[in-house]
Amino acid sequence: MCSDDSSTDVVIASRPDAVRVGVVRETNDGERRVALVPKVVASLSAKGVDVVVELGAGLAARIPDELYVEAGATIGDAWSADIVAKVAAPSMEEIAKLRPGSTLIGFLAPRNADNRIADLRAAGVRAFAVEAIPRISRAQVMDALSSQANVAGYKAVLVAASESTRYFPMMTTAAGTVKPASVLVLGAGVAGLQALATARRLGGRVTGYDVRPEVADQVRSVGAQWLDLGIDAAGAGGYARELTEAEQAEQQRALEDAIKGFDVVITTALVPGRPAPRLVTAAAVQGMKPGSVVVDLAGETGGNCELTEPGRTVVKHGVTICSPLNLPATMPGHASELYSKNLQAVIELMLDDNGALAPDFDDEILAAACVIREEVNA
Ligand code: NAI
Repeated sequence: MCSDDSSTDVVIASRPDAVRVGVVRETNDGERRVALVPKVVASLSAKGVDVVVELGAGLAARIPDELYVEAGATIGDAWSADIVAKVAAPSMEEIAKLRPGSTLIGFLAPRNADNRIADLRAAGVRAFAVEAIPRISRAQVMDALSSQANVAGYKAVLVAASESTRYFPMMTTAAGTVKPASVLVLGAGVAGLQALATARRLGGRVTGYDVRPEVADQVRSVGAQWLDLGIDAAGAGGYARELTEAEQAEQQRALEDAIKGFDVVITTALVPGRPAPRLVTAAAVQGMKPGSVVVDLAGETGGNCELTEPGRTVVKHGVTICSPLNLPATMPGHASELYSKNLQAVIELMLDDNGALAPDFDDEILAAACVIREEVNA
């Protein structure tokens, strides 16, 4: 929801030494989110931060410039700010606009080999990657991976429902009774649990699966059944580890059998820094009923389904296989609102008691999130 609710914050007069936060317009194809929404701008302004917004930065999320101005921002050169708030990693052209000595914060894909960390370093920019924020309780409010995965999990179900040839809910009509759709969600992390909850709300009969046995209770708590294939691959830090070849073959065989009975399969399985695990083989798709749907959320790292074509919707063996990329960008109102709250908390953590930009690298959150730390002089 785009919000202009800035009435509760009192904007104080800006100080000459106030930290300037820039909100830039995202340029990646299909990226409709904006790093800070007006409500958060008002909150930061009230704390003495100057916010400068690039012309049209919120337009793709349907947030007009006027709402930013009402919230206390100025419209201008956001790229020369002390802290530049972004959603997606910057392009080379965007890096060239950053001021040496400034601080960048956004999704910088620090684990991807083709990230631009080296270019940012060469540009003399200090950088914080939201993906690297540790998943400890104090950092929950900053957890952008979770806020955006939630949106993706929800939207994946809507994509599945829209591509499905069948109803999700049970339906009793004069023309007959329709059985509820059976929905299997593979990977029960943040996106998977949201997908299970959303599919259940739509009236589907839902089942969840993961290689971390500890999530069984979370799956059940959203009203889903737990599919137990007997493979335990809990890894470090609450994440899954990559399966061995033998485990993967066993998992694929077991899933081939299990998947047959489902109308909808939503896959969300990821292993940090690794290609997406291959869970759904071509044979498993062939075994599904024609008219069924697979929505593969792991397309960006190669896909969980063998027949996935990242970014496309294809029909194979009568089964529709969708691999939407960057689903959070398709719901830019709430996705931006939640992301803004994450960034606000990180920005506030970087400020000292006088409102000066002074990140404390003894703080484990900032130390982990900072992917380019060296002291740079403006
Ligand atoms: P993720 O996006 O890295 O992976 C998604 C899911 O895929 C995970 O549940 C993972 O176990 C599963 N997976 C990986 N390989 C698989 C395979 N071969 N077969 C089936 N499933 C497979 O995970 P996400 O959503 O980022 O969550 C990771 C962890 O972080 C979870 O334990 C979650 O509860 C935890 N977390 C903790 C928070 C906190 O304490 N502040 C906040 C958010 C998440």
